[in-house]
Amino acid sequence: MTSLIAVIGGSGLYSLLDDAEERTIDTPFGPTSDAVTVGALGGREVAFLPRHGKGHRFPPHKVNYRANLWALESLGARRVVGVNAVGSLRPEIPPGSLVVPDQIVDRTYGREQTFFDGPGVAHASFSDPYCPIGRGEAVTAAASAGWTAVDGGTQVVIPGPRFSTRAESVWYSAQGWSIIGMTAHPEVILARELGLCYLPLCLVTDYDAGVQPGEGVTHEEVLAAFSANLERVRAVLGGLVGAMADEPNCPCASLKPELM
Ligand code: ADE
Repeated sequence: MTSLIAVIGGSGLYSLLDDAEERTIDTPFGPTSDAVTVGALGGREVAFLPRHGKGHRFPPHKVNYRANLWALESLGARRVVGVNAVGSLRPEIPPGSLVVPDQIVDRTYGREQTFFDGPGVAHASFSDPYCPIGRGEAVTAAASAGWTAVDGGTQVVIPGPRFSTRAESVWYSAQGWSIIGMTAHPEVILARELGLCYLPLCLVTDYDAGVQPGEGVTHEEVLAAFSANLERVRAVLGGLVGAMADEPNCPCASLKPELM
């Protein structure tokens, strides 16, 4: 038996599974973004949760990340595939690219970002935020679906909901960062705090303001680009989940921090 694999869908991915059972889960942190659906994908049992809720009800700074991660873990998920729509900070990574980043820079503020609020302290190791094995599996699954993913790179996470100014965007690019999004933090650290393995699939929907000479990014542009690539993303997800090792074979569970 394979342990449950969770998929969190980003902007444009609001349903994934056929014949799925809907589960509403109570959490100590309040409601999840939507009901979790549990069904089959790639021959495996998968739990799917749309990060922003169906119909995109929650903006990035209002997503209840703690409830979402807690609920998936309580259902038995050990691995989480996080799908994100992101902007590109590099001319050589055009819209329509798939990126499997290996680093995050967190520029968000004011978000609930830990399960360890006291009493007691727990300091998670987060040098390498994503699962190294899972990242490899994601790159391989993309290649099998005929999509050469960009393997590695840094995702800067901005607070949103606004997009960046041109000056901010130019500055992010100058740091050498590759892509920009609004939701990877605190989602990925919360997975780490629960000892879950997290692997990213980032679909580039636009060039960010510093890279493109035009008016800048719009939400419509992001959704249209995601929708144009939706079937390819679904194919990668199906192949990825189907090809994953039966059980996580990675250090992620051992990185769950101890409460002192
Ligand atoms: N999500 C998709 N495109 C984005 C961008 N350019 N900036 C931040 N988040 C995004």
